[in-house]
Amino acid sequence: ASNRLLLLPGDGIGPEIMEEVKKVIGWFNERTADTFEFDEGLVGGAAYDAHGASISEEDMAKAKAADAVIFGAVGGPKWDDVPYDVRPEAGLLRLRKDLGLFANLRPAICYPALADASSLKKDVIEGLDILIVRELTGGVYFGEPKTITDLENGQQRAIDTQVYDTYEIERIAGVAFDLARARRNKVTSMEKRNVMKSGVLWNQVVTATHDKSYKDVELEHMLADAGGMQLVRWPKQFDVIVCDNLFGDMLSDVAAMLTGSLGMLPSASLGAPDAATGKRKALYEPVHGSAPDIAGTGAANPIAMIASFAMALRYSFNMITEADMLEKAISNALDKGLRTKDIAQGDQATISTKEMGNAIVGELEAL
Ligand code: NAI
Ligand code: MG
Repeated sequence: ASNRLLLLPGDGIGPEIMEEVKKVIGWFNERTADTFEFDEGLVGGAAYDAHGASISEEDMAKAKAADAVIFGAVGGPKWDDVPYDVRPEAGLLRLRKDLGLFANLRPAICYPALADASSLKKDVIEGLDILIVRELTGGVYFGEPKTITDLENGQQRAIDTQVYDTYEIERIAGVAFDLARARRNKVTSMEKRNVMKSGVLWNQVVTATHDKSYKDVELEHMLADAGGMQLVRWPKQFDVIVCDNLFGDMLSDVAAMLTGSLGMLPSASLGAPDAATGKRKALYEPVHGSAPDIAGTGAANPIAMIASFAMALRYSFNMITEADMLEKAISNALDKGLRTKDIAQGDQATISTKEMGNAIVGELEAL
C-alpha cells in the first residue's frame, strides 16, 4: 500500500477511540484492496511506562516516515508527577516540532441533527461549516525573551515576546488560501494591527501573499477582537479564518463551542510540502484530551477521532470522495438519533463507543 499511517493511540480513551478508527480503515481497505498500511506506536504516558520517554526514537522515526500520523490523546493523573521533560504532553510537542507542523486546522461544523443542542439560536449555526487555520509553531508561546524576573521594589515582572518573521506568515497564509480554493474561496485574516507590530507585519504579508499568488481568493482583514465578536454573532459569514498562535488558540476554542461537544471536534496539523514529493507531513487528532474520568467505561465518543481520519483522507491522501463519504456516514448515524452520552439530550437513549463505531461503519456500507 502506498498510503502509510502511524497510529499513536496514547492514553485514557485514546486506545478506545483508536479501535473505532481501525474499523473505518479496515472498511476502506476491504473496499479497495490495501489502500492503507498502518503501524502502531506508543506516545505519552503509555510510552513513559514502556520506555521512560514520552515517545521513543524508534516511534519518532516511524512518524517521520509515515504519510500521516493518527494521534489519540495523551496524559492522565497517573503521570502527574513524572519529570517535566518526559511528561505525556512532551510527546505531542516533540511530534509537532520535529515534523515541522506549523499549520493547525480546526473545522467548526454543525451537524444538522445537533443544531438544536447548541446554546446558540438554531439559525445562527445550522449548516455552519468554517475552518480556522492557526499558526502553531511561532508567536508569543515561543518568542524570546520569556522570563519572570525580580524587581528592586520587591515586585516581579513577567515577559513574553511575540515574534513573527515574514516566511512564517507567508507559509501559513499560503495554507489558508490553498484550503479556501477547495471550499468557498474566502479568507479572513485576523490580527491586532492597531496595537501590535506583529499585527502590522501579519496584515502586510498576508496581503502581499494574496496579491502575488491568490488573487482569485477573496481576502478580508478583521481586528481579532471584532472577529471574536463576529464569530459568535454570525459565524456563517466566514469560510477560512487565518490567525496567529495566540488568537488562533482562543478563536478556535470559541468556534468549537458553537457546534457542541468536545467529543465531536477533529483537527489536523500540517507541515511544509516536501521538496521532492510535494507531500506535507501531517498529524490528525481529536481536539479533546484523554478524558481519564470516563476511560474504560465505554462512554467515549469516537466521532472526533473518526472525523480526524476523514481530514487525513482529505488533506494527506486527496481522497475527497472518501472523506465526504465518511463525514456523511457520521452525519447519517446522528440523523438516526444515535448518541453517545456526551451528545445525548434529556432522556435520549445512549450507545457505547464501540456501538457508535460500528454504526458509522454500517452507514458507510449503506451509502
Ligand atoms: P479532556 O478533553 O480529556 O476532557 C474534558 C471533558 O470532556 C471530560 O469530562 C471528558 O470526559 C469529556 N470528553 C473529552 N473527550 C470526550 C469524548 N471523546 N467523548 C466523551 N466525552 C469526552 O480534557 P481534560 O479533562 O482537561 O484533560 C484530561 C487529560 O488530557 C489531561 O491529562 C490533559 O493534559 C490531557 N489533554 C491532552 C490533550 C491531547 O492529547 N492533545 C489535549 C487536552 C488535554
Ligand atoms: Mg486551546
